[in-house]
Amino acid sequence: MITKIIGTGSCAGSRRVTNQELEQLVETSDEWIHSRTGISTRYLAQEEGSCAMAAEAAKKACAQAGVSPKELDLILLATSTPENCFPSEACQVQGRIGADHAVAFDISAACSGFIFALHTVHSFLVSGTYRTALVIGVDELSKAVDWSDRRTCVLFGDGAGACVVRAEKEGRFCSTIGSDGSRGDILTCQARSGGNFLTGKRPELGFIAMDGQEVFKFAVKKVPACIEEMLEKEGEKKENIRFYLLHQANERIIETVAKRLGEPVEKFPMNIGQYGNTSAASIPILFDELNQEGKLKRGDKLVLAGFGAGLTWGSILLEW
Ligand code: ACO
Repeated sequence: MITKIIGTGSCAGSRRVTNQELEQLVETSDEWIHSRTGISTRYLAQEEGSCAMAAEAAKKACAQAGVSPKELDLILLATSTPENCFPSEACQVQGRIGADHAVAFDISAACSGFIFALHTVHSFLVSGTYRTALVIGVDELSKAVDWSDRRTCVLFGDGAGACVVRAEKEGRFCSTIGSDGSRGDILTCQARSGGNFLTGKRPELGFIAMDGQEVFKFAVKKVPACIEEMLEKEGEKKENIRFYLLHQANERIIETVAKRLGEPVEKFPMNIGQYGNTSAASIPILFDELNQEGKLKRGDKLVLAGFGAGLTWGSILLEW
């Protein structure tokens, strides 16, 4: 059996925030942000939170696939910013959409989360364990950002993207994922820490901390290597790839990856300018946009690739 994506959906935070608005908050400028990252605006969640965004994206993906939530066997949700430690975000989405027959759980692989989730779901589908699954990438990094730190607060947005996938007899799907825990310190966000029984101190939440240049170097080295390796193993030529859907962290990273792969940048759709870096949600949001805009044709070969904290990375080759 082969994993086939049969529906997509997405949802962004309800509040659009421009670079000019951030100029009022920290010492920065639209010029600096746009020239270094490509970002002009981002959407931040308000009261809705990540569960609501994920559920909305999920409902849209099910509707587009023509699949009732009751037909879902599995919900796998990737996030590093869940609303609660438990219940899992996936279980909360299950409850909200009424996917009574599914099993639901979260995975955490930061910005590579959606790739890791789709890779994992594929294993369940090819083994025959499940037939129909919902894969969600959602992050609400605005709640993990130090809004006084200009080095990080300008980069992120909130959102969710989802795909319904089904085990089919024909199609194309292969994937590869990797991780390197020894370099995890270049991109971190501490979870609850500091709670202490003896002193009675309450736990505090940490903020995102990043060595931007090291993350940049990691991404532009690892992503093309990972894609090249996967395509070579699959015997697939780059010229047959219609689009490369990369994690939207930085326009310059995507342009450098395109150059290193020797592929025209036009094959690398981008929406970072509008959404900022939405972490695990960026690839499925981009996928959904291309789908809604009618830019994907059945049979198109697509490469998805992500990278992020962990460090983690991965790529997928699939046929739409
Ligand atoms: N506005 C104005 N000035 C700023 C800002 C800002 N928002 N942020 C940093 N600066 C300043 C710094 O303080 C520094 O000033 P100094 O020279 O006086 O010390 C100067 O700009 C240069 O800072 P750098 O960090 O060297 O800037 P760089 O050119 O590396 O750009 C950036 C920073 C955009 C983060 C870049 O390193 C990058 O894109 N890295 C990739 C990381 C990434 O995309 N992370 C996203 C999250 S991770 C993920 O999704 C996997």
